[in-house]
Amino acid sequence: MKKRILSGMRPTGPLHLGHLVGALENWRKLQDEYECLFMAADWHAFMSEYENPGNLKGNIIDNVIDWLACGIDPKKSIIFVQSRIKEHLELSLVFSIITPLGLLERCPTYKEQLREITNRELHTYGFLGYPVLQAADIMLYKAEVVPVGEDQLPHLELTREIARKFNNLYKKDIFPSPQALLTKSNRLLGLDGRKMSKSYNNYIALSEEPEIITKKVQGMFTDPLRIKRNDPGHPEMCNVRSYYAIFAPEKEKEVAQGCPKAQIGCAECKKELGNCLINFLEPVQNKRKELLKNKDEIMGILEDGEKKARSIAIQTMDEVKGLIKM
Ligand code: TRP
Ligand code: SF4
Repeated sequence: MKKRILSGMRPTGPLHLGHLVGALENWRKLQDEYECLFMAADWHAFMSEYENPGNLKGNIIDNVIDWLACGIDPKKSIIFVQSRIKEHLELSLVFSIITPLGLLERCPTYKEQLREITNRELHTYGFLGYPVLQAADIMLYKAEVVPVGEDQLPHLELTREIARKFNNLYKKDIFPSPQALLTKSNRLLGLDGRKMSKSYNNYIALSEEPEIITKKVQGMFTDPLRIKRNDPGHPEMCNVRSYYAIFAPEKEKEVAQGCPKAQIGCAECKKELGNCLINFLEPVQNKRKELLKNKDEIMGILEDGEKKARSIAIQTMDEVKGLIKM
């Protein structure tokens, strides 16, 4: 029996290289070894974007197209939309009743978001419960493994605590203790050297036009000590070189050798990187264009995923309701 995986992404906007390196490549590889469920977490997106939800539905389709273009395979994995399965909310409510407030108030991701996101009002009842809904996402399918980035570890910890508490209260080991599967490749930074993020506008979208890729790469920060063309560079300190390592490893050596001897200039180095990224993304973008021609097919995939997810979700909720005598 394969172990079950559940992971999710919030459909808040276009996916970028950070999503590809940080999550999608990982998801793709896990599909053979595990039974995988991949979810568009639209309720979670709504929790932080409720004042201005934008085009949530459109983002879901757009993101799922990127998932497919990156090799997530509906024949192997269950691809579905969180809000289509009402049981997420039902289990989330049950969990919210047994979760001590202090656990949520102390959650480091919660405190950090309240501190850092100042342009939105996130002091809400629902946002405090963000990890409770995430715990319900995971436990509804009794997933044992959850591929996530490091930032999500506190949510996994909370999920385990909630699951353990439920099992203890109702004297049955119905929920497993899910383990995080950390993505190793969080090496990719944004174009400005900060974390790649939509809100920093320092990303390259998977669907980015080639000309825009060239332009964005031209604006990348390089070795700050290399000011004149003849200055020796320090590739180990340069974000451009890290991009080579990830997206064109066969060229990295050339750059790492030529740069300290000032044999290549930064403008040239970035122009070449732009071409490498364009080449790297070409197959993904071609697949994307194919998929865009047939949105009915995407809808079909989501409906199929919904059916499969629901049949698991209903079973779990039946068990839960039996245990809580509802
Ligand atoms: N909170 C996750 C994130 O922001 C998204 C998410 C929602 C998720 N539900 C999940 C991830 C369940 C893993 C499992 O990245
Ligand atoms: Fe960075 Fe390339 Fe310039 Fe060296 S030549 S500092 S690796 S951009």
